[in-house]
Amino acid sequence: MIDQRKLPGDEIYIRCKTAAEVARAIKSMVIRGAPAIGVAAAMGIALGTRNSTATGTQKFAAEFYKICELMAATRPTAVNLFWAIERMKRVFARAAEAGESVEQIKDRLDLEAQRVHDEDVASCRAMGAFGADVVPADAHILTHCNAGALATAGYGTALGVIRGAVEAGKQVAVFADETRPFLQGARLTAWELVRDGIQTTVITDNMAGALMSQGRVNFVVVGADRIAANGDTANKIGTYPVAVLAREHNIPFYVAAPLSTIDLATPDGARIPIEERNAKEVTHVRGAQLTPDGALIWNPAFDVTPHRFISGIITEKGIFRAPYTESLKRAFEEVTASANTLG
Ligand code: MRU
Repeated sequence: MIDQRKLPGDEIYIRCKTAAEVARAIKSMVIRGAPAIGVAAAMGIALGTRNSTATGTQKFAAEFYKICELMAATRPTAVNLFWAIERMKRVFARAAEAGESVEQIKDRLDLEAQRVHDEDVASCRAMGAFGADVVPADAHILTHCNAGALATAGYGTALGVIRGAVEAGKQVAVFADETRPFLQGARLTAWELVRDGIQTTVITDNMAGALMSQGRVNFVVVGADRIAANGDTANKIGTYPVAVLAREHNIPFYVAAPLSTIDLATPDGARIPIEERNAKEVTHVRGAQLTPDGALIWNPAFDVTPHRFISGIITEKGIFRAPYTESLKRAFEEVTASANTLG
């Protein structure tokens, strides 16, 4: 995987040979972004079980569940992580119940991890096509954090919508919030978009209000780490103030995320676990200390945008609107119904 901590300065690839190395890569943000975390966890589980020397299913099962626990303990907010682990567990249980051999189960886990990857790319492309419809013809888009190819298996969610709009022939200019403290916007979003030849202006997070008040933004799109059943959305810290500003300036504010980011088991945003990360991300930049010793630090990685600020949730199945409790529930019912029809 590309080491996202080093971009844009260095393009370094890290080769993970064990499940523990994959877990460490997720925790330390070598790889990040909700869908990418889910894909990495699925691949990490497949890799870890592939390395197993167990010959009997019982010992193999114990190892499998231990690896799943290791992955689940990496980052708490992005629900795609737990969604991917559940998928792997379902495949494991079905194969074990059918009496398959350890080698056969390993093959099934490989295949499932590959599917999680491939489906994510397809979802991003579909999101891009749906989202392009609501992007203005002459768009000045603000985005926060990085919800791009780096944060997914490819193409991106919020950046997928931006790419979809460009492919649909719209005139697009992007403002990328810097995204303190990890600088996903300044480092990663700008890196992706500049490489794609899309006009990108980086602003620090505290400049968004001035920009909007001057009428220089007409669309906002962000990704999500977990969307509760009522539409409340956890995303990178700083998303909530952007949503409030967008409302104040009558600018549409969209969330782009696959159904794997929607968690109907979490009723509202207050119930979403918010990760707190190491204080050093705030106190230091590239090893240089910014704050005096003794200052207390608060470093939540995400905030929650209440559903009332969200104009629509762009998914691979279309755009869902308020009331989200009904529209999101219906989306899952339709997916289940079509899966049953297909057998
Ligand atoms: O802490 P990060 O960098 O993993 O947070 C990422 C975000 O908040 C993204 O916006 C979100 O995961 C969506 S990525 C398609």
